[in-house]
Amino acid sequence: MNKIIIANWKMNPQTEEEAINLAQDSDVEGLIICPPFPFLPAVKNSIRKATLGAQDMFWEESGAYTGEVSGPELQDLGVEYVIIGHSERRKNLSETDEMVAKKMEAAIRNDLVPILCIGETKEERDNNKTKEVLTRELTVGLGLIKNYTGEVIIAYEPIWAIGTGIPDTPENIIEMIQLIKETTEGFKSDSKVIYGGSVNSDNAEQFLQHEEIEGALVGGASLRSDEIKNIIKIAKKHG
Ligand code: PGA
Repeated sequence: MNKIIIANWKMNPQTEEEAINLAQDSDVEGLIICPPFPFLPAVKNSIRKATLGAQDMFWEESGAYTGEVSGPELQDLGVEYVIIGHSERRKNLSETDEMVAKKMEAAIRNDLVPILCIGETKEERDNNKTKEVLTRELTVGLGLIKNYTGEVIIAYEPIWAIGTGIPDTPENIIEMIQLIKETTEGFKSDSKVIYGGSVNSDNAEQFLQHEEIEGALVGGASLRSDEIKNIIKIAKKHG
């Protein structure tokens, strides 16, 4: 399967038992599962076909950083991918583009594939600021890894489409992906661009049928294994 499908469980579920059940039921080839930190070991032990991802990381390797989780710690748990700069962290924890850039660098230093999340608010879109926002998030966010030639995933996630049940249109997503590709032309990384925002098994085909949309970051729908399995089936059909 060429498409990248990522399950972002966010701060769900609430118990290890539920996490194990969901992981076992969602254990399909090609899926990257990003559970909350406390469930990483249990999920790792529950999957055979899926791959493990984390939802965040800190930019230092060790030391006096209360509450943070480092790249070596994630590596040790068998994590291969890491989401960086999700809009919920930017909003709730005031994560800046500069912090995101340091996390991107730390990810590649620790052999983790970074999933850089970018996207505009409704207000920014209405004020024709989308291009400006995406360009800033990309140039600053990737600024410390300009010469990196390995794999980087960029998730275009318009903030107003996250968790609202109202996804962006394929036409607009493709236009934004073209902008992202143009903006990242000078970077050497092997980057793939995926879409996130209210993707479910009913609408996934609309997006994944386009070769420009190289995958999906799925939040809410990834908490249901039947949903995620159907999304993977659709992804397989399209490359
Ligand atoms: P959603 O979340 O699928 O629930 O909209 C996507 C995301 O935040 O990555």
